Amino acid sequence: MRPVNDYRALAGRVRDHLGQSHRYAHVIRVARCAEVLAMEHGLDARKARLAGLLHDLARLYPGPRLLAECEARRLPVGAFEREHPIVLHAPLGAALASETFAVRDPEVLSAIAKHTVGAAEMSPLDCALYLADALEPGREYDERAELWALARRDLHGAMRAVIANSLRYLERKKIPVAPQTLAAAATFKVDRGEVPSLT
Ligand SMILES: [Fe+2]
Ligand SMILES: [Fe+2]
Repeated sequence: MRPVNDYRALAGRVRDHLGQSHRYAHVIRVARCAEVLAMEHGLDARKARLAGLLHDLARLYPGPRLLAECEARRLPVGAFEREHPIVLHAPLGAALASETFAVRDPEVLSAIAKHTVGAAEMSPLDCALYLADALEPGREYDERAELWALARRDLHGAMRAVIANSLRYLERKKIPVAPQTLAAAATFKVDRGEVPSLT
């Protein structure tokens, strides 16, 4: 398959693949937000937009399909993923971006693979997609707008604040935290009790 260089054509194919207007609207917003963050922080805006558009290709797959497709590709499936297969939509999404959409750029694929639970090592592009996904305007939580403003001026600070925010959310909801998120929290020196400063 030819590498796709026409964003509109690619967006149409993503819409068909997703088959749900709600999810499609989300990925379009994430692509735009990732592009904005890339431009603000001197990253490759085209890569950021592409990663945003393709990040949730497997988001609507049910758990058994996520597990089966990851196992078929020998993608790592740990104990946490077995309990919470939804998180596998990120690495499987990267595989689909490569197989179905002919994306070969390792930076784009890395950002897609890490967008849900983060990772111990995250490049600025990985961070831009992670933050765009968490902070796109369709997300409805009180701190969103302030965190988005923070992300536009300070990627690292926004990672700390957004990870701290999700740890508190997971704790409140009594949802276990993925080991990769704990690793990311350590990398970004997130204090679990910290209330992020938004000033
Ligand atoms: Fe996702
Ligand atoms: Fe998403």
